[in-house]
Amino acid sequence: MTPAEAKKRHDRLVAEIRRHDLAYYVEAKPVISDRDYDRLSHDLLDLEANFPELVTPDSPTQRVGGEPLKAFRPVRHLLPMLSLDNTYSREEVVNFVKRIHKLLPGETLEWAVEPKVDGVAVSLRYQEGRLAIGATRGDGMTGDDITANLKTIRSVPMKLNHPGFLEARGEVFLTKSGFEKLNAERQAAGAEVFANPRNAAAGSLKQLDPRIVAKRPLDVVFYGLGKLENGPHPATHADALDWLKSLGFKTPQKIWRCHSADELMAAIDELDRLRRGFPYETDGAVIKLNDFAQRERAGFTAKAPRWAIAYKYAAERAQTRLRGITIQVGRTGALTPVAELDPVFLAGSTISRATLHNEDEIKRKDIRIGDAVLIEKAGEVIPAVVGVVPEKRPAGAAPFDFAAHIHGKCPVCGGPVSRDPKYVVWRCENIQCPAQATRRLEFFAARGALDIESIGGIVADKLVERNLVREPLDLFGLKAEVLAALNLGAADAPRVFGAKNAAKALHAIERARTAPLSRWLFALAIPDVGKATARDLALFHQTIEDVSSSPLLKDVLDYHDNLSRLPSLRRDHLDRCQPLKDKTAEAANRLLQAGFAAPSQNKAEAGKRRDRGIVTRIGPVVAKSVLDFFASSAGREILARMKALGVHPAVEKVSAGRTDALPLAGKSFVLTGTLPTMTREQASARIESLGGKVTGSVSGNTDFLLAGAEAGSKLEKARQLGVKVIDEAEFLKMG
Ligand code: IVH
Repeated sequence: MTPAEAKKRHDRLVAEIRRHDLAYYVEAKPVISDRDYDRLSHDLLDLEANFPELVTPDSPTQRVGGEPLKAFRPVRHLLPMLSLDNTYSREEVVNFVKRIHKLLPGETLEWAVEPKVDGVAVSLRYQEGRLAIGATRGDGMTGDDITANLKTIRSVPMKLNHPGFLEARGEVFLTKSGFEKLNAERQAAGAEVFANPRNAAAGSLKQLDPRIVAKRPLDVVFYGLGKLENGPHPATHADALDWLKSLGFKTPQKIWRCHSADELMAAIDELDRLRRGFPYETDGAVIKLNDFAQRERAGFTAKAPRWAIAYKYAAERAQTRLRGITIQVGRTGALTPVAELDPVFLAGSTISRATLHNEDEIKRKDIRIGDAVLIEKAGEVIPAVVGVVPEKRPAGAAPFDFAAHIHGKCPVCGGPVSRDPKYVVWRCENIQCPAQATRRLEFFAARGALDIESIGGIVADKLVERNLVREPLDLFGLKAEVLAALNLGAADAPRVFGAKNAAKALHAIERARTAPLSRWLFALAIPDVGKATARDLALFHQTIEDVSSSPLLKDVLDYHDNLSRLPSLRRDHLDRCQPLKDKTAEAANRLLQAGFAAPSQNKAEAGKRRDRGIVTRIGPVVAKSVLDFFASSAGREILARMKALGVHPAVEKVSAGRTDALPLAGKSFVLTGTLPTMTREQASARIESLGGKVTGSVSGNTDFLLAGAEAGSKLEKARQLGVKVIDEAEFLKMG
C-alpha cells in the first residue's frame, strides 16, 4: 500500500468508526455487530502500526493513551463558567418570571426547561473540528486541563464536522448503575466507597492517569455553548441543542418549551416524574430563557446569569439531633466519623446512625455535636448528614475538632494516628490495632470468605480483646479449652462460649485449612481482590505460592505496560519499536494460550489495543496489587505461616484445554442489551472462566441468551428459536 492509499483507507476507517461510535454511545442504536466493529478497529490499529504517521491525536485509537500526568495544567476559560441561582420554592420561580418580564417589558418570552444533571461541569473546545482542550469549571475563571480524561469518554466527539471554533459545555456524570457497580467493587476490594455519583464522577476526573478514568463508567450531557467563531450562531437555546446534537454531542433527552409560569410548573412536575428513569442523577430543573438576544438584554450578575434559574427538587430528607460522633476503625485503619442520631424515620426505615464521611466534610458543613442535622439517603443506600439547621444550634455548641475529639490517637487502641494532607482520611498507624484486627478477622471468617461460622461479631471482638487472635491465621493455633472458656460477657457477668460451641468453631477452622484457593485469596483481603478476581486467580494457579510469583500476572503487567508505550512511538522510532511490539505480542500469545486472555470483543477495549487485541482476565492494576501484596513483608510472612501451619487450600485450577470439568462447559451464550451491574466484557469473562463460550449471534446451537435492558432483535430471534433467555440474576446463580 502506498502512503497515499494508506491515508485514504485511514480516513475511511476513521469516519466509519466515528459513525458507529455515535450510533452506539450517543444514540444507543448500534447498527453493526460488535464483531464487525472490532474488525474495523483492528484494521485501523494495524494500519496505524504500519503507517505511524497517520496516528493523529483525534484518531479513535487514541482515546486512552499516554502516561499519567504529574499535575493538571490550568486553563483560563474564554468566557467565565458561571453558576446558577437556585431555589426550592415554586413561588420564587413565579417571581423569577415576573422579574424577567419587568426587565424585558412587552416582549413575548419563551422558556426552556431541562434536567439539572448532578455531575461535574466541563467545557470542551474544538478547533478546526478537533477536540483541543477539555477543562473543569474550577473557580469559574480558570479550570484544570482534563483533556486526556475527557477523551476516554466514548460519547465525547473527538472530531466534528465544523471547521470553526466551538466551545461546548456540559456535565460529566456517572450513571446510577455505574455508581452502584463501582462502589460494590470498591467495597469488595476494601477501598473507600463514594458517597454519591457526583463525588464519584468528580473523583474520577481528578485522576491523573487516564487509564484509570477509562475504567469508570463516565458519560456526558451537553447543555450549552461557550465561545463560537466562524460558523453558525444559533439564535435560541433549543436551536443550540439541536445543533450540538447534529454535531454528535449527547444532549438532554427531553426539554420543554414553556410560555407561562403555569406551563413551567407543569414541566417541572413532569420532569420530576420522569427523572427517576434517567440514567443519571438529577437534582432539579433548569429554566432558561430560550432566545439568545433576550438573554443578552437580561444580562448577568457577578455569579450567575439573570436569565436562568434552577428549581431544585427536595431530596428525601429528615431532621433530627446529632447526639454524638463516634469513630469507626476499618480493616485498613481508616477512621470514619459516624453520626449518632436521635432515631428518625426516613424513606422506609428508622435511622440512628449516618456517615459523616471525613474530617473535611464535617468542617465544610460546620457540623457540631448537639446540632439539629438534616439526614439524606444518598444514592438511595447510605444515610448521610448533609447539613445543619443553624437556627436550632444549642448555645455553646463548639466547632468539631477531629484531632481533639480523638485526643490525637486511635479511639480503639490509643495508637498513633495520622492524616496524609493529600487525602481526607485519618488512619490508625498501629497495625496491631485491635479494631483493625477484629475487622480483618471478621472479614476472614465471613460467609463469602472462609465461612468459619461462629467467629463473627462478638466472638471476633473477644478473641482480639483477650489477645488470643492478633492476625486471622492465629485462629489455627486456638486450643479447645481456651476457646470454650472465652468470656463473651463482662467480667462481672460472665457468659462463656462453651465446649460445644468451641468444638463446632474448631471444626470449621480445621475445614478452612483445605477450603478452595479462591476463598483463601479473597479472605486474605489483598487490596483490589474481590470474589471474582479471587476465582479467576484460583482457576489458573495451583497453589497460593503459584499466585505469589505468577508468570501470568507478570505477563499481564508487561503486556499493558508495553501497550501504553507503543502509541507514542513515531515512524522514526520504528526499529526501536519492533522489539517492543514483538515482546507485547509474545506476552499476548502466552496469555491467550493459557486462556488467561481472550481476543477483545468489546468496542471500549478495541481502541486500547495495539497489534494483539486481547482482554486479560485480570487487569494490570489488580495484577500489580496481587504481586505487590505477596512481595511485601506482610505478604511473605503470611505465605510462610500458611506453610508452617500446614494450610493447603484446595486446588481449583483447570488445566488449559481441560475446561470440560467447568460448570458451563459446552454451553454457548449470546449477550444482548445492557445488564444492570455487569459490562459485557465482565459477563463474557465470567462465562469463559466457567468454561462456556460466547458467540455473536443467536442460532440453533445457542444454549442461553443473556439479556439486559433494551434487548433488540437477538431477543426476538431467541424466542423464535426457543433459546432459553436469562437475566443477570439468573446468570449469576449459574456456576
Ligand atoms: S446551565 C450560566 N444547564 O449546574 C449557566 N447547568 O449550578 C450555566 N448544570 O455549573 C449552567 N445541568 O454544572 C446548566 N442543564 C443544565 C445543567 C447545569 C447541570 C450544572 C452546571 C453548573 C451548575 C450551576
